[in-house]
Amino acid sequence: MNEIARQPKLLKDYAPPPYLIEEVELDFMLAPRAARVASKLRIRPNPKVATGGRPLVLDGEGLALESVALDGKALTPSDYELKEGSLTIPRAPAHPFTLELVTYCDPETNTALSGLYLSRGTYCTQCEPEGFRRITFFLDRPDVLAVYTVRIEAEREVAPILLSNGNPVAHGDIPGTGRHFAVWHDPFPKPSYLFALVGGRLAKVPDRFVTVSGREVDLAIYVEPGKEDRCAWAMESLKRAMRWDEERFGREYDLDVFNIVAVSDFNMGAMENKGLNIFNDKLVLARPDTASDADYASIEGVIAHEYFHNWSGDRVTCRDWFQLCLKEGLTVFRDQEFTGDTRSAPVERIAAVRMLKTHQFPEDAGPLAHAVRPASYIEINNFYTATVYEKGAEVCRMLQTLLGREGFRKGLDLYFERHDGEAVTVEDFVEAMADVSGRDLSQFMLWYTQSGTPELACSLDYDPHAKTARLSVSQVVPPTPGQTKKEPMLIPLKMGLIGANGDELPLKLDGKGVVNDGLLEITGREQVFEFRDIPSPPTPSLLRGFSAPVRLTVSLDPEQIEFLMRHDKDAFNRWQAAQTYATNLLTAASREGGDLSRVTGKEALRLAQALGQTAGDSSLEAAYRAEFLKLPSESDIARELARNVDTDAVRAARESLRRTIAGEIGSSLAELYEAIAPQGPYSPDPESTGVRALRGAALDLLVATGKPSALARAERHYREATNMTDAISALAILSHLDAPARDEALAHFYARWQDEPLVLDKWFAVQARAARSDSVETVRALLSHPKFSLKNPNRVRALIGSFVHGNPTGFNRADGAGFELLAEQAYEIDRFNPHVAARLLGAFESWRILEPVRQGRAKAVLEALARRQLSTDSYEIVTKTLGPS
Ligand code: PHE
Ligand code: ZN
Repeated sequence: MNEIARQPKLLKDYAPPPYLIEEVELDFMLAPRAARVASKLRIRPNPKVATGGRPLVLDGEGLALESVALDGKALTPSDYELKEGSLTIPRAPAHPFTLELVTYCDPETNTALSGLYLSRGTYCTQCEPEGFRRITFFLDRPDVLAVYTVRIEAEREVAPILLSNGNPVAHGDIPGTGRHFAVWHDPFPKPSYLFALVGGRLAKVPDRFVTVSGREVDLAIYVEPGKEDRCAWAMESLKRAMRWDEERFGREYDLDVFNIVAVSDFNMGAMENKGLNIFNDKLVLARPDTASDADYASIEGVIAHEYFHNWSGDRVTCRDWFQLCLKEGLTVFRDQEFTGDTRSAPVERIAAVRMLKTHQFPEDAGPLAHAVRPASYIEINNFYTATVYEKGAEVCRMLQTLLGREGFRKGLDLYFERHDGEAVTVEDFVEAMADVSGRDLSQFMLWYTQSGTPELACSLDYDPHAKTARLSVSQVVPPTPGQTKKEPMLIPLKMGLIGANGDELPLKLDGKGVVNDGLLEITGREQVFEFRDIPSPPTPSLLRGFSAPVRLTVSLDPEQIEFLMRHDKDAFNRWQAAQTYATNLLTAASREGGDLSRVTGKEALRLAQALGQTAGDSSLEAAYRAEFLKLPSESDIARELARNVDTDAVRAARESLRRTIAGEIGSSLAELYEAIAPQGPYSPDPESTGVRALRGAALDLLVATGKPSALARAERHYREATNMTDAISALAILSHLDAPARDEALAHFYARWQDEPLVLDKWFAVQARAARSDSVETVRALLSHPKFSLKNPNRVRALIGSFVHGNPTGFNRADGAGFELLAEQAYEIDRFNPHVAARLLGAFESWRILEPVRQGRAKAVLEALARRQLSTDSYEIVTKTLGPS
């Protein structure tokens, strides 16, 4: 075990690099077991760091060093120090110099999928955050920006396609050898984490884009031969994203080419390497029969996300990894805005908030809580989190809310202009926003530094004599590991007051005129706002559009919530009201062992009627109506309970509410289901997608009645499906049941798709998520299925990931069998791919909210795991999850 690697790194210890590398020439000779890398680095002492003549310490991992030369003179081992992790030249010159290195790395045995590795025969790289050091010795940190020229040589048979960042400058054969080469040049200075290289036998799907200023860009998507017919959607999404970024943010593309490569083995979703994005093929390949609407949507979103990084990340990058949210939060915000503009804005907002609450709120409430900009980390790979990404995006959104769209756009323009070609900090970003708006954003900075979800408690008192409504607001930021005391934050609170007839009342603040856009700025721990000229008791609609990532509590009675669920003009809050209404019933029933009848009679029926009415309201978008039919998930309920959670009771409560609702509005759901049956061929456009979502949600609820007619409908939905969306939604519905229909559908799906890895992943996932008492055993059996492999991250996520993250009742089973399964599998994976293992182990983060028996089991399993030999990645997660003993 490497104890040094386990020392936390601290933001406050940041020091600029003593040397800068300004130009890099790389020469690759690709070979499976020993890829030769010759590098030529133009280095100079950093003028911003006082003394020259400092040791030059280059990072390097798992490299075989062949030679080192300084200014053309070979160095001998006595001139440098070579250790695992670094190469040090103790007496480097105090003037600019050239360093030449020859090293070898081993792509074939690279199972961690960081650095240069082979994915199904294709050479590819992944360098973020610290993978470049596994390719060659370098100052592998984001504040060292260089211009790269890359030559790649390989056997033409093996790798007819040779790609790197930037523009192509040359290529050709090496006569008589069967080898060929390509040279690429990237004129934009970039950090090493954005370096990329690809070599393989790939098919090219070309296209073209003309930028606003008339520059022609060659676009291409490279995929495994035979998959060319699955690239159209990704390409279309790319072109739409490029246009949108010009129109909405004035960002134009800057190279002559933009390439995307899809690979099958990838630790994450995708990577924004300059001019050469590398993607998990799951996020590129789509055909109506193989990809669902959800897949189409994530492809569109991630293609856009990686493309948007070209400015927010590549042209302006991060000074150090503590600033990760600077590129990720901002880019997620940008891709969310893109999706909102492209599809339905309210539905996109609902999806983003669901995501935030499902993944980020538990993180903020648990042992792994950290600030959007963490102050310390052990392994940076563990900080690609929902907090950095999703909460980071919310922080950008709040800036846009506070500054207005135009103000925010100006701030962003200034940020890009000021810092183009630089590696910067969160302060630089916020300063640009402060400069364009003239606002003091120092309190706002707390969003980056304080962890934990603020709790905002609101109540409204109406005075019938004075005709005033007093809104009292108080905020508390709960303590989190390492942060016991918190300051009050600046919280943008969007709100409205709704009159008895459903009209919006003007918000006249006593003494301060009318509130603009319904936006209040909460800055203190306790505040009161008094509204004048309110003729009758209003219903408050608070935190409209989810204007801040907080937990809101409002003292409203069920009638008021029902009123909002029917009348709120803010589409997000209208949906939220339905969710709140259901959540209140579900948490109460969960506390009663899952017995809904002990907590409600008429409320469940009123909810059913309101949902039925909204679902049937054809004046609303179908996709939006579908959101109403999706009841709060088991993890939503557990999160609201926050303590003493019995996951079996949660499931029972939810199932019983679904049954009640289905019983009440089943016939209208069945009618709706038939009435909106789509005609004509599949199209992934937002309208058709919405209709399929609404139908699927109606069917899902219908089956909860347990009626044979509903089951028959689900079977038919599967049988008659002409696209993956319908097939997989029916399969998911059937997968929960104890009926021959389930086994038949699963067998049929397997027979049809066993040779299509991405589709087969769905077959594994659906079984792992099934709400059945034997799910641990099912997953265990599937671990030894001939098509299962621990080596492919997508397959691991499909089976183990879906189980631990998507099946809370199965994973948290009272006997601890789910915990044991995860611990044992993660341990196996940790030996060859720490990153993937550590991510899976994140599923333990909420163990402390469980009831005592489950808690005891989780703790024992975690303690046993902590005693084993673990990677730094998994060690950090396991020890932090256990917390101080
Ligand atoms: N930077 C990638 C993104 O766009 C994520 C990523 C991180 C990919 C680390 C690979 C490794 O979000
Ligand atoms: Zn990103």
